Amino acid sequence: MTASLLALEPLPAPLPGVKRALDPAFGRVVTGVDAAQLTEADVEAIKAALFQHSVLVFPNANVTPEAQLALTKAFDPASDSYGHGNKGRQSKSILHPDLKTIPRLPQVQVIGNGPVASHEGLVDVQLKHPHHATFHSTKVPDAEDKDVTRFYRWHIDAALYDLAPPRVTTLQAVQVPKGRTQTLRYDDGSHDELQVPLGTTAFVSGRTMFDRLSPAEKSLAVRTKIVYSPHPYVWMSSARSNSVGLGLESEGKELAADELPAFEESKIKTYPMLWKCEATGALHLQVHPSAIKELLIDAIPAEEKRTADSLYPEGAHITDLKEVRRIVYELQRPAVAPELVYAHDWKEGDLCLFHNQGVLHSVVGAFKPDEVRIFHQCNLAASTDPVGPDAADVAKWI
Ligand SMILES: [Fe+2]
Repeated sequence: MTASLLALEPLPAPLPGVKRALDPAFGRVVTGVDAAQLTEADVEAIKAALFQHSVLVFPNANVTPEAQLALTKAFDPASDSYGHGNKGRQSKSILHPDLKTIPRLPQVQVIGNGPVASHEGLVDVQLKHPHHATFHSTKVPDAEDKDVTRFYRWHIDAALYDLAPPRVTTLQAVQVPKGRTQTLRYDDGSHDELQVPLGTTAFVSGRTMFDRLSPAEKSLAVRTKIVYSPHPYVWMSSARSNSVGLGLESEGKELAADELPAFEESKIKTYPMLWKCEATGALHLQVHPSAIKELLIDAIPAEEKRTADSLYPEGAHITDLKEVRRIVYELQRPAVAPELVYAHDWKEGDLCLFHNQGVLHSVVGAFKPDEVRIFHQCNLAASTDPVGPDAADVAKWI
């Protein structure tokens, strides 16, 4: 096997005036390889780089949907179906309007904005970039909407029912409207804001999210499992998000179990709060905050490990949604601070790969109805569930 010429360069600088304090390992621009014609050695080098750096950007990649699928599948050769499945997408699901499938390749979706007459076998489709006003409980005043935006929804790409979360998501930018910038506001009383390119995709590191916790919070995280709702995107379809796009307001709007499509207990997902990257051994705090329903917290077994500030030392099964959301929000919010966000400034031809089991990401921004933007998105339901902390991790952090 000839060695790969893959080279890694730093991420592009942020917009003027934006302070950035990412983990130095987070994010790289990839050069030296032709993403449309990767060798076996290139693919191995890309896989190693992705787990080290979480987000990889290939400028001017312009890969076909077939090549994009092949690269995505290389991360998990036993995977095959789209991350959210393709059978009978539920019309009530909040994901329904945002996804159009390439007819010949059900694992690759066309996402974006504006009217598209013909593209990859799709004819006369209207793409719609999600706007926070359709999902948040409050919105930016109409008069400011052109210039001010929010994170739409921080998430992991995952069905979180039946199917396992994809290991990697790939995004190929095909058509990108000429950009302006917007001010992203958190509107949570913090006065946090961030200058972002129009239609950026925002990323934060799940590893940083864990690393920055206090010792007591780390102990809680290493002991906690998340129970997700069955059919979470139907369950949350009437509920509304907080202004940071980081979880839902608790207003009693979630659907009751008997209002959901039929489900099987065995397909409900219960995952550790921390996912261990098998390649690096790092722990990533990986929780889809909008889909969470219950927390299962183990007790701290050894008396000597308990301190005055230990959280839930006796363990707990928390089912009160407001409390579940409060706990998770307090663990996640510090890591979505403006200086810890990588807001990618999309250029036509960019291919972006992200470690979906190691980062959270969010759609951002608002386009005018006639601004045409076309992306190809691919991820595959993983062949195995994410792995939690091992015994050594638990012993270290409990
Ligand atoms: Fe996504």
